[in-house]
Amino acid sequence: MNVLVIGGGGREHALVWKLKQSKLVTKVYCAPGNAGISRDAVCEDIPVTDFDGLLKYAVKENINYTVVGPEVPLVNGVVDEFEKNGMPIFGPSKKAAELEGSKAFAKYIMNKYDIPTAGYREFVDYEQAKKFLKNADIPIVVKADGLAAGKGAIVCNDREKAYEALDLIMKKNAFGAAGRKVIIEECLTGYEVSVLAIADGETLVYLVPSQDHKRIFDNDEGPNTGGMGAYAPTPHISQAMMERIKKEIMEPTIKGLALEGRPYKGVLYAGLMMTSEGPKVLEYNCRFGDPETQAVLPLAKSDLLEAMMASRDGTLKDFVWENESGAAVCVVIASGGYPEKYEKGKQIFGLDGRIEEDVIVFHAGTKWDDDRIVTSGGRVLGVTAMGTDIKSAVDTVYRAVGKIAFDGAYYRKDIAARALANWRRSE
Ligand code: AMP
Ligand code: GLY
Repeated sequence: MNVLVIGGGGREHALVWKLKQSKLVTKVYCAPGNAGISRDAVCEDIPVTDFDGLLKYAVKENINYTVVGPEVPLVNGVVDEFEKNGMPIFGPSKKAAELEGSKAFAKYIMNKYDIPTAGYREFVDYEQAKKFLKNADIPIVVKADGLAAGKGAIVCNDREKAYEALDLIMKKNAFGAAGRKVIIEECLTGYEVSVLAIADGETLVYLVPSQDHKRIFDNDEGPNTGGMGAYAPTPHISQAMMERIKKEIMEPTIKGLALEGRPYKGVLYAGLMMTSEGPKVLEYNCRFGDPETQAVLPLAKSDLLEAMMASRDGTLKDFVWENESGAAVCVVIASGGYPEKYEKGKQIFGLDGRIEEDVIVFHAGTKWDDDRIVTSGGRVLGVTAMGTDIKSAVDTVYRAVGKIAFDGAYYRKDIAARALANWRRSE
């Protein structure tokens, strides 16, 4: 089969890497891809929102199956568009992807189907929202309803900051139409876990639970980013807790969406806060996480394309999904200055050959400049190491990261450090 991956970040490189291992795959294509992906797949520079261009390309290259990485094309209905044209594709329909596309819709589903989440109110009127904030408990979280590239949730530790967040979203229109409605919700405390599963409308198969590191600096300080590193599995999710997450969160979500006439196929990603009362949903995503995928897919034993096809066909009930034992840790190397202003076009050194056993270098913001690979984005590389446990994966990953260099390269030194501390405590 010829497979097309839509997207061009670290997540898509991990998808291409894993799909290439499928026994069903002849050739992998990627649009638009990046420098690293172009070594593993045929890349074509088509924007992820150009559905016409993507469809024409898929027809021309005899693509048998398309896999979508980012949320924007999914929420805009790329799956419906491909299916309408007889082109098989993996992912949720536009109606199902609204679970990520509208936080108000996600809250409606959680409330209706008794799925644990933070208490909340929604507002379309600025004055009413402001009035509510005057008496609300602090800290509080103010969120834009729609897609905001991961920046639309603002955790406010004092009332002034909450007013500022509301102004930013509703008055300054920082996220455009995504901020016409706001969600104001209770602030939850605990540790965060990303649970990713592949769904076929009824049945779910689970990837290894993982943890992202969203803040730019060590010890979770500084502003939020797209994600600076991830590891899997999370040591604090026992088998019993995973069963609880399936029963209380993942299964009711899929059942609820089916009852609403929006059967969910594709990857269901639940961002959870593990609170003293149990797991609660912070958000749903309708796609693989980035950089979680770079840690989670190397731990997948099963054929990813087979699972994706079973998702579309509704046959996951008969599919046995297996994960490897052991652990994986991904460290993101970013351009200095990210997530604010940063420079591009820096030559990257140390990418040739195999830098360490059990290490994969996934590319994100990279491109070719003649025969050199240069930086072209904020998050540049995701270096993943596998090991028998988190400790050995951490040691390997940082040895590998130390061999890669470009002007201004920045990475966190504490990816998975908390998992290691927990691990030691439980030993
Ligand atoms: P979201 O875009 O909704 O996933 O939120 C992004 C990040 O904001 C999450 O990963 C959390 O770190 C934080 N966050 C969102 N909602 C809450 C909440 N209710 N309580 C505490 N932190 C939250
Ligand atoms: N790593 C967070 C996300 O993919 O949304």
